[in-house]
Amino acid sequence: MSSLTDRPAQAPGSWPLFGHLKPLLTDPLGLLATLPHLGDVVELRFGRTPTYVVCSPEATEEVLRNSHRAFDKGGTFYENMRSIVGNGMATCPLAQHKRLRRLAQPAFRSGRMTGYAHLIHSQVRTLTSDWHHGQELAVLAEMRDLAIRSNLATMFSRRELGRDITGLRKAVTDFVDHQTVLRMIAPALNRLPTPRNYRYRRSEARLLRFLDEEIAAYRSDGRDHGDLMSMFTTSVDSDRLSDREVRDTAMTVLLGGVTASAVGHAWALYQLSQDAGLDAEVADEARAVTQLDEGRSAAEVMAELPLTRGVVAEVLRRRDPSWIFPRMTVADTTIGTTRLPAGAQVLLSPYVLHHRPDLFPSPENFDPRRWDGRDPHRATGWLPFGAGESKCIGYELAFMDLTLTLACIARSWKVQPCPGSVRPRPRLHMEPHGLALRLVSRKPH
Ligand code: HEM
Repeated sequence: MSSLTDRPAQAPGSWPLFGHLKPLLTDPLGLLATLPHLGDVVELRFGRTPTYVVCSPEATEEVLRNSHRAFDKGGTFYENMRSIVGNGMATCPLAQHKRLRRLAQPAFRSGRMTGYAHLIHSQVRTLTSDWHHGQELAVLAEMRDLAIRSNLATMFSRRELGRDITGLRKAVTDFVDHQTVLRMIAPALNRLPTPRNYRYRRSEARLLRFLDEEIAAYRSDGRDHGDLMSMFTTSVDSDRLSDREVRDTAMTVLLGGVTASAVGHAWALYQLSQDAGLDAEVADEARAVTQLDEGRSAAEVMAELPLTRGVVAEVLRRRDPSWIFPRMTVADTTIGTTRLPAGAQVLLSPYVLHHRPDLFPSPENFDPRRWDGRDPHRATGWLPFGAGESKCIGYELAFMDLTLTLACIARSWKVQPCPGSVRPRPRLHMEPHGLALRLVSRKPH
């Protein structure tokens, strides 16, 4: 029988001194896959901080929705993230979080989604207008570029973001590219006098200068341009984000939104390249995208794309971009009946939940049909966007972006696999390493 003094199970394979460091560095997904049958909370050993992986949906929700504030955003990971994107909503301690979230929330209201859908649609059209039949696509790089375009367009629609934003796109690319897991754990690496670090600092400075100029322009203009920045700079109940808070929010959205969306787009195309039948059905359904130009709302168009939505829900499950993220215990506490000390690191892992066969039968199968008639946002254990007060603020926008972008591409292009193996590479987000695809135009040529 369990009691409140339960100790967490320990993952096997710990080495003296190094603990689980080796499997964590060489095969983190293999290590995570072994944990759920050991218990709801499993201890890993490496370094001096006690570390626990949460393996059940109930325990994950308990941590993310905790009302007694025992789990906060702290520890090395968040300290380092703050040095990169500032003390914004995604990185600040929960005590400061509520206000930032309340002030940024209007930008993500459902009523604004149709405007964002048009901006995204236009960016996909611009990017793909340069594609040609037979071209081999370096998919992740191309989808990164698309995510940057869509992100900048939805954030700053006041500016004409046509083909003239090469310099800014390069700055965002350098900024995003630079954030490897290693650099987040050991930011001192960023201070070494290397050419790469010099390039990064220059890009970061350019980005910050651009943001400061834009924030000033939006403040003095004061109009709603139908984009995120109009809302970030607006007052809510006589309070508003300071210039510094707007800048930190924008940097967070650029880093988190761009990298997560890019891998989502890339995995979605990969999955279509693996299944000609699925690809044909998605392409057929995708004709509905044109209804956006006929004045229908984003919600109406999304309703016409049930299979594409199923593909996206399944990409976010099977290829979960945000495969793991941490919290810190700020006091001695419990998860269920398991006791944890203060100062421990708690790892929440959508990857672990999404691969549990009791929640998702045959979890290794990519099966969009498992979402037929089901709303993934209500499914137990489907947590690609987290949960609770820190749940991804951009989840509705991100889901729509992934769906419309996939439909818009699939309408005109078929993708075929190129030789070479593709494997998931768990970095800040789960990347499809080695993914190249050949484009085949669906138009007669
Ligand atoms: C496939 C795309 C995306 C995925 C999988 C994703 C995933 C997540 C997850 C798991 C969290 C919660 C992390 C935690 O609790 O510590 C999060 C937070 C956040 N995301 Fe996303 N995200 C995506 C796209 C976006 C986009 C497009 C935006 C903005 C335009 C965005 C903005 C944010 C922000 C600001 C937070 C912090 C929210 C808070 O702490 O209150 N994300 N995201």
